[in-house]
Amino acid sequence: MNIRIISGNWKMNSSKVDIENWFKDFFEKAKDFKNSKNKGDILICVPSVYISYAMEINKKYGSVNGFKILIGAEDCHYENKGAFTGNVSPIMLKEFGVEYVIVGHSERRQYENESDEVVAKKASNALNNGLIPLVCVGESLEIRENKKHLEFIEKQVLNSTTGLDINKIIIAYEPVWAIGTGKVPTLDEIEEINAHIKKVLADRNNVKESDVNVLYGGSVKSSNAKEITALSSVNGVLVGGASLKGEEFFNIVTNSL
Ligand code: PGA
Repeated sequence: MNIRIISGNWKMNSSKVDIENWFKDFFEKAKDFKNSKNKGDILICVPSVYISYAMEINKKYGSVNGFKILIGAEDCHYENKGAFTGNVSPIMLKEFGVEYVIVGHSERRQYENESDEVVAKKASNALNNGLIPLVCVGESLEIRENKKHLEFIEKQVLNSTTGLDINKIIIAYEPVWAIGTGKVPTLDEIEEINAHIKKVLADRNNVKESDVNVLYGGSVKSSNAKEITALSSVNGVLVGGASLKGEEFFNIVTNSL
């Protein structure tokens, strides 16, 4: 199954007022945009405390000219419940209508010391609870400069998806050096890694490369979304900073159709 996902990731940003404005701005633009192309899944991952508020505001708009938003989460735990202060389980996310959850974002790997094994456990528990995990991988600048990125990503993506049904998960390739920096790999570099991820996961899981879905993330904005999403190995984008404004996110979505 070859799919298209345009996802935002608000990280630890936004407020109730920001959320109201975001949906207003997004759907204001959607009202004036008539295009019969398949819109794919348009997703915005929000801090867990705002999930129900974003759901409530989103419901008011529903679907406008074929544009509808899914609310996703930025992380989940690998257990369903228990003594894990401050964490959120996939069961809780599911109860609030969440369908997608990011796991293994490089900021969690860096600041919360999440290993590939923990990421795989989180993704597995998300799947067990009917959520689609967006499993993030990406190399540091040092690894890229030492030209070790292909082997690093191969190991990271295999270890972060051990035992998972590859048809049911999404990979997001996000080079750490491109996140929030305005630096973007060349189109050839994105194609090289995304195609490599598809190949290694297809080989291990005995599926077709086209069954492995890989997004790109790192300094995506409306001005570069078109060329990035036109690449044959890119199934969509994961957008941080540029997803914080409804209008800009709408432009990313339409440039990616
Ligand atoms: P950025 O972040 O778009 O701000 O670079 C991407 C991400 O971290 O998902």
